[in-house]
Amino acid sequence: MGFLSSYLLCLFLSLPWAYGQLVPALFIFGDSVMDVGNNNHLPTLIKANFPPYGRDFFNHTPTGRFSNGKISADIIAETLGFASYQPAYLSSEAKGENLLIGANFASAASGYYEPTANSNLAIPLSKQLDNYKEYQGKVAEIIGAANATSLLSSGIYLLSAGNSDFVQNYYINPLLNSAYTPDQFSNILVQNYAQFIKDLYGLGARKIGVTTLPPIGCLPTVLTLFGSGKMECVERLNRFTETRRGCCGTGLVETSILCNPLSSVITCTNASEYVFWDGFHPSEAVNQILANNLLTAGFALIS
Ligand SMILES: *[C@@H]1O[C@H](CO)[C@@H](O)[C@H](O)[C@H]1NC(C)=O
Ligand SMILES: *[C@@H]1O[C@H](CO)[C@@H](O)[C@H](O)[C@H]1NC(C)=O
Repeated sequence: MGFLSSYLLCLFLSLPWAYGQLVPALFIFGDSVMDVGNNNHLPTLIKANFPPYGRDFFNHTPTGRFSNGKISADIIAETLGFASYQPAYLSSEAKGENLLIGANFASAASGYYEPTANSNLAIPLSKQLDNYKEYQGKVAEIIGAANATSLLSSGIYLLSAGNSDFVQNYYINPLLNSAYTPDQFSNILVQNYAQFIKDLYGLGARKIGVTTLPPIGCLPTVLTLFGSGKMECVERLNRFTETRRGCCGTGLVETSILCNPLSSVITCTNASEYVFWDGFHPSEAVNQILANNLLTAGFALIS
């Protein structure tokens, strides 16, 4: 699990590409930590395109982001100088010129273990790569093959996965947790992770950052369902008043369809006072801190 809890982000921010932008494009892969609405277009139950999701987003609009407001990918895009967010690849916005700032391929409940995504009707990482290949073709049609190659190799790639493999698969799937110990299952995830990075590199990516957000043992759902949890997981974030419960509903397990307009009745009034927005996902306030940490790590690597 070592690599899953650590992060690495390589940013080489020397060439300004478009006015105000530090890099030409940003590409995002992974699970619900990164999904900005791809699952809205899938027959899965793992969605977040209804209230109270998006309560603190622009126009208070639920978009499919698993947050009360922005996710860390949004904040990273803003910090890199993008004037708009990379569109969800399956959305109607992902066309024409909009594609030239990159795209978001992430799908909630996806993971490094292919069956995690399949059993949740989400987009497996292999299919996210297929979509990325298709994306490359579209961009080449717009700006030509040579310009596309340059865009793709200069862009930044963000990957966040692994939480769903445990929370939405291993922990709840007796076939899986009787077949593998957590360490053995982690090894499978690591192998699949390594393969994904190789494949992405083979497709032209050069600047790849990897993270899982946040540490899995701190998720309210995990604390509620799987034991007493350890307080040390939250020490780094202890300026927030509530660290063990999510804001949505009772804050103990609610996520996706369980965090809905009915649970809004008991949803907290100020999500900034909570580390977690729902049972799995950080609030916007914490996404801001996580994004800052990622960016700081990335900048430190180039100095
Ligand atoms: C490719 O890039 C060059 C140089 O930046 C530019 O002049 C040209 O218009 C671009 N080609 C297309 C098809 O956009
Ligand atoms: C919400 O909580 C944050 C953090 O404690 C605080 O800074 C902010 O003023 C609060 N917002 C409202 C509307 O009370």
